[in-house]
Formats: sequence, structure tokens, C-alpha cells
Amino acid sequence: MNIPKEKIEEVRERANIVQVISEYLPLTKRGQNHLGLCPFHSEKTPSFTVSETKGIYYCFGCNATGNVITFLMKRDGMSFPDAVKTLARRYGVSIPEVQRSGPDPRDLLFQALRASMEYFLRELKGPGGGEAREYIRRRGFDGEIAQRFNLGYAPDVWEGLTGFLRKKGIADEASLSSGVVIKKEKGVYDRFRGRVVFPITDVRGRIVGFGGRSINGKDPKYLNSPESQVFKKGETLYGFYQAKQQMASAGAIFVEGYFDLLALHKHGFTNAVATMGTALTKEHLRLVKGHTNLVYALFDSDAAGRNASIRALDIAIDEEMDLRAVILKGGKDPDEFLVKFGAEAMREAIAKAEPLMEFFLKDLGARLDLKTPAGKRKYLDSVVPMLTRIRNVAERGHYAAFVATVLNIPQESVYEALKIPRGTAEKPVKGAMEAREAVDMKGARLSELTVVKVVARHPELLSDAVSVAMESFSDPVLKKAGAIIAGSILRSKPLDASSLMDEADDEPTRILIAGLLIKDDDGFIEDPARMLEDSLKRVMNRGNIKETTMRMIERLEEMGRTEVASDIRKRMGTGAKRQP
Ligand code: UTP
Ligand code: MN
Repeated sequence: MNIPKEKIEEVRERANIVQVISEYLPLTKRGQNHLGLCPFHSEKTPSFTVSETKGIYYCFGCNATGNVITFLMKRDGMSFPDAVKTLARRYGVSIPEVQRSGPDPRDLLFQALRASMEYFLRELKGPGGGEAREYIRRRGFDGEIAQRFNLGYAPDVWEGLTGFLRKKGIADEASLSSGVVIKKEKGVYDRFRGRVVFPITDVRGRIVGFGGRSINGKDPKYLNSPESQVFKKGETLYGFYQAKQQMASAGAIFVEGYFDLLALHKHGFTNAVATMGTALTKEHLRLVKGHTNLVYALFDSDAAGRNASIRALDIAIDEEMDLRAVILKGGKDPDEFLVKFGAEAMREAIAKAEPLMEFFLKDLGARLDLKTPAGKRKYLDSVVPMLTRIRNVAERGHYAAFVATVLNIPQESVYEALKIPRGTAEKPVKGAMEAREAVDMKGARLSELTVVKVVARHPELLSDAVSVAMESFSDPVLKKAGAIIAGSILRSKPLDASSLMDEADDEPTRILIAGLLIKDDDGFIEDPARMLEDSLKRVMNRGNIKETTMRMIERLEEMGRTEVASDIRKRMGTGAKRQP
């Protein structure tokens, strides 16, 4: 899909980055920028900075950076054209339909899946759907909930959907690879038969597969679409599309089953998603991470549930998510719990949820005899690997103290076991230090940085001399950033920060540009012309740079560009022109 360049620019101009990002996380105005908790890494104090006027965001913690288009790409996993089209629709930019270079092969699958849902919906409403309607009613999900989640019915026939899809003009090949029909020796037949059907959607609401609950006692109880080009069970959360808006304020509730999810939504817990019976994966957590850092996992209280929760804890530590265990006493699963005890009891159980780490530390303590040295050793052996992986010192210290109390040993002994000296600095996010240094650097490169910074803020000060000086920068990233900024100024003033994000094709340059453009310290440049002058002088008088500059001046003179050459001489403070 080729979107005309001017349309992309129009979208970038019209889309309000603060408005768009605010739908994912709360932003507060701070000076000229907006500030919030970074959706791309875990943090407790906001360092995610959005500039409305410049149209870019930058995280001082993890260096995530980009414009409104890249935000959607990273946050919702959209492709570039999809992100542009979404924003275009929203901000009323019409994009002419252009021929694709080739069709997306997944579109055929999406088509087949969409049509399948139509069939399942029709069958549930139709004359043959009585038994299924009665089943859904008996379980308490008729009416609004059934509609919100598009529950359907696959009648107990072999070629119902198969025929329906053919009549719709969908090729068997697409139906097969979407998983809704199965191949046999001669021909194909319906995968789902005699089942209530749950359409499973991706983050954008497109149908990627189905789950089917048997209503006539036939095995297996649940049947799911097979993995396909568009459906990966371990990377999909049932109900995510319906729940995502709600998560930013309420956290995410994780359950296992389809009906558990419906039950939660029915009782007002619209921030719930379901893993569809598979163990929690890091992809599951990453899906919700952009919306919230807080996950309530509703585990069974049996041994299987406990093991599942420990595995989940493992993943949550690495993803730096706050995972809390909700124990439902007296109910087999969330659905049954809600039927038995109601929403208020659920709300209480969720409010009482404790961090899974704490749950794990207590639960382990209850299963060992901590009065004996052997018990203590066992306990410590199990918890140390967990604790060492906690990256945040404060949090790690908190649990180290907890362990010391449980074992009734000095805290020092726990630290000893962890082999981490007290007060060790928090391990920084990879790359963050380097970038911060780049933005706050001292010494030689500081003058190069100043040149770029002043020009970025005061495009009118860009001159040939400045361009020449940028050419001789010793820092490759600054050199590239300078060239991109200068190029953009020459094309169009004022500087369009948002489009620069797309022009810089490597991460360090993007980070540098975003970092220096978004810093909210415009006021500090009192006399930009003077500041630029001073920095240029330092840049051009530095060691071999001086030589390069001299050579450049000579070349300029040879080319007859004497005005520029003498301008540069002036700035270097080597006033007199050399006689040829
Ligand atoms: P459960 O066996 O706990 O069933 O499976 P449930 O959700 O309580 O179902 P009901 O209430 O008896 O109707 C939990 C989840 O595991 C997946 C499904 O997503 C199910 O909702 N599952 C279970 C399967 O995918 N296949 C199965 O055979 C069983
Ligand atoms: Mn159940």
C-alpha cells in the first residue's frame, strides 16, 4: 500500500499526539510538555514526555521515541500504513485508494474468518439455534453480553459453514488456512459442530479464530481454531479488544476461560481478558503492558493453580509487571464464583489481592518447616533465584527484608545469599545511560551538541558556515542528527520535529534528536546567536577538526565561494585571509 507522501505529512500535522496518547495513558501537563508513565517500560515516576507542538514523544527512562504514527505502530503493533490510515480516518484526511503492490495474504484469512462469524451468528438466531440459545441463556449470557462478544452457534452438521463460505465466493484454500474447515480425503468439512462459538479477535478487533464449547456433551469440551498466520494462542488474549480501554485506570484481570471472561464483563469487570486455557506468556503481559502495569491473575486455589502462578511470577518479574494473585475461596472458577457470591465478593477478593511475589514467599513458607536449618536453607534456595532477578533495588530490598523476617535471620544474611551489596544502584535500562550521556554530554562533544541544539531551536540561524561545521563533527550521531535537522530546515522552516522521527533511520540518531528537541528548557538560550558563535568557534578550532576546516575553507575558496570561506574564517577567529 502506497500512501502519498503529502498525505502522510497531512496526517502527521492534523493528528494531535497528546490526544492520541492520552487514550492509552494519563498525561499531565508539565511546562510545555505532557508527562506520563512510559507505556514501553515499567516505571513508577513518569519520564515519558510528549510534546504537543513538536508532535513527538520521548522517554527519558528507556529512550522510546517517535511521533504519533510510530506510537501506534509500537503500541498496537500496527504497520506503518495501517497507523497512517487509522489516524487519517480519525482526523479526516482522505487517502485515495491506490493499487497495492500485492495483496496481503492474510486478508483472505480475515475475510474467511469474518464470513464464518456471520454464519455462526445467523445460525444462533435461526430456527436450528434453539438448543444453543437455551444453553447460553441457562449459563446467564444471553442478551447484551452475547451481542457484545458476538457469540454464535455452529450446528451439528458437516458442511454447513463449508457451503456457506463457498457461496460467499471464498476459496476452500482460504477457509482451510484460516482453520474453520478441515480437509478430509475428498473435500472439506466444518471444524466446529454442535458448539457455541466464541469469536476471538486481535488487538484491532479483527477476527483471528474461534473457540467452541460443546453443548451436547461431546468431547472435547472446548475446541479452538488451530494456530494460523493470524492466530497464535500464546500471543492472543480473548476479550482484549473489548477490555483495553478500561485497563489504564483499573489494571487488567486475567482469567483462563471463555465463560469466566464473559462472567466478569457481565458483572462490570470490563477490564478482564482470558488466556484461553494456556499458561501465561510474556507476550500476554506485553499486550497489556502498554495500557497498565498492574495485572490481577485469578488462579485456581489448587496445586495446578499454584504452579501456574509461580510460572507466571517468573515471567512477570522479567517484564517488571505488578502481578497480583487473586484467590477465590469456595468457587471453582471465576464464573462459578460470581454466580455463587456475586460481584461484591469478587471486588473484595480483587482488592485483597497481594503481589504474587508475596503470595509465593508466604505460600512457600507455609509448606516448609522453617524452624529447622534445613527448612531455612531450602526456603532461601528457592527464593534467591527469584529475588536476584528483581531489577528495582527498592523492591528487591523490600522482599529481602520480608525473607529475613520469615526466616528470622538477619537481613545481612539474605543480602549475603543474594550476593548483592546493599544500596547497589538500580541496573539501568539498556542504552538509557548512553543516550542520557549523549544529551547531557560534557567536554568536546558539548560544543557540537550546542550547535545542533541551537539550530534546532532557532532554524533562522542555520548558515552555510554552520553546515560546514556540522560536516566536520567528530561525533557520528551528532553529525547525522545535524545533517537531518539542517536538511529539514532547508526544505521547510519551521522545523517539523515529528517528520524528523521518520527521517532518522537509526535508533541512536532518533533518540538524540527527540531528546534534544523535547527538553523543556527553551528559555535557557538567552542569546542563541552568540551561543552558536562560541560553539562554532570551539568546534572548528579543535585539533584535527581545525585542519579539516582549513582544508574545507581552501576548497570553498577554490570553488569560488569566498564569502562562505571568509565567514568561516571569521568564526574561527583566524580573521586574516591567507594569500594564495
Ligand atoms: P475449563 O476446563 O476450566 O472450562 O477450561 P471452563 O472455562 O470452566 O468451561 P465451562 O465453564 O465448563 O464451560 C478453561 C479454559 O481452557 C480452555 C478454554 O479456553 C476454557 O475456557 N480449554 C479447556 C480448551 O481450550 N480446551 C479444552 O478442552 C478445555
Ligand atoms: Mn467454568
